[in-house]
Amino acid sequence: MNRQPDGIVRQLKVASRYCPRVILNGRMVMNGFHPHGLASGEVRRPALLILLHWATLIVILLAVGMVFYRETVDDKAQRVLLIALHKSFGLSVALLALARLGVRLLRRPLPPSTEMSPLSRFAAEAAHMALYILLLALPLIGWGLSSANGKPVSLFGLVSLPPLVEPDEDLGDTLAEYHEAAAWLLLGLVAVHAAAALFHHFVRRDRVLRAMLPAWLDARR
Ligand code: HEM
Ligand code: HEM
Repeated sequence: MNRQPDGIVRQLKVASRYCPRVILNGRMVMNGFHPHGLASGEVRRPALLILLHWATLIVILLAVGMVFYRETVDDKAQRVLLIALHKSFGLSVALLALARLGVRLLRRPLPPSTEMSPLSRFAAEAAHMALYILLLALPLIGWGLSSANGKPVSLFGLVSLPPLVEPDEDLGDTLAEYHEAAAWLLLGLVAVHAAAALFHHFVRRDRVLRAMLPAWLDARR
C-alpha cells in the first residue's frame, strides 16, 4: 500500500480546507464547493479579516488627521472636540485589532498567499506581529497619557473609560513622548509594509495583495 508520510498528510489536510480538490492517499478529498470560486491554489483572506484590515487603515488616517488638523485650529471648543475624536478613533484602532486577532485565531492556519523564501516569510510575519503590538500598545499609551494628565477618555462620548493611572504630570510627559515615538514607528512600519505589498503586486506579480483585496476589486483583472 503506497501510504503518504504523516507530515505530507497533515499538509494536505490543511490544504484541503482551502482548496476543494486535494488528493489524499490516492483519494480525492472534496471540501464541498470552493467558497470563492477561485482557481485551485488562489488564496483569499477571510472576508472579515479583509474588512478589518482596510477599516484599520481608514481609522488610523482619521486619528492622525484629527491630531494634525488640531494643530491648525485655535478655537478651544474645536480643539477639545478634535482631541476627543482622536482618542475615540485611536481606541477604535485597538478594538479593530482585537477583533482581527480573534478572526485570525478562529481561522488558523492562514494559508500562504504565495511562495516565499523562509527569510521573506520571517520578515513579513515579524512585521505583522510588530504592527499588531503597536496597534494595541499605542492606544493604551494614549489612554495612559490622558489619565496621567487628568483628562477624560471616552469612546465617541458613548462609553467613558476609567483612568488607567493616577494623575501625574511627569508620567504624562513621559507617556506623551512614548506615544509620539510609537506613532511614528507605526506609521514608518506601515509605509514599509505597504511598499512590500506593492512590490509583490507590481514587481513579483503574485497574489499577496490581491488576497487581501475585497473580492470585487480582486475580480477586476
Ligand atoms: C493608533 C492609534 C493612535 C495613533 C496613530 C495616535 C497618534 C498620535 C499622534 C501622531 C499624536 C501627535 C504627537 C505629538 O505631536 O505630540 C498624538 C497625540 C495625542 N494622542 Fe494619540 N494616537 C493614537 C491613539 C490615541 C489614544 C487611544 C489616545 C487616548 C485615549 C490618544 C491620546 C493622545 C493625546 C492626548 C495626544 C496629545 C499629546 C500631547 O499633546 O502631547 N491617542 N497621537
Ligand atoms: C494602517 C495601515 C496598515 C496596518 C496596520 C496593516 C497591518 C497588517 C497586518 C497586521 C497584516 C497581517 C494579516 C492580518 O492579520 O490581517 C497585514 C496584511 C497585509 N497587508 Fe496590511 N496593514 C496596513 C496597510 C496596508 C496597506 C496600505 C497595504 C497595501 C498597499 C497593505 C497590504 C497588506 C497585504 C497585501 C497583506 C497580506 C500579507 C500576507 O498575505 O502575508 N496593508 N496588514
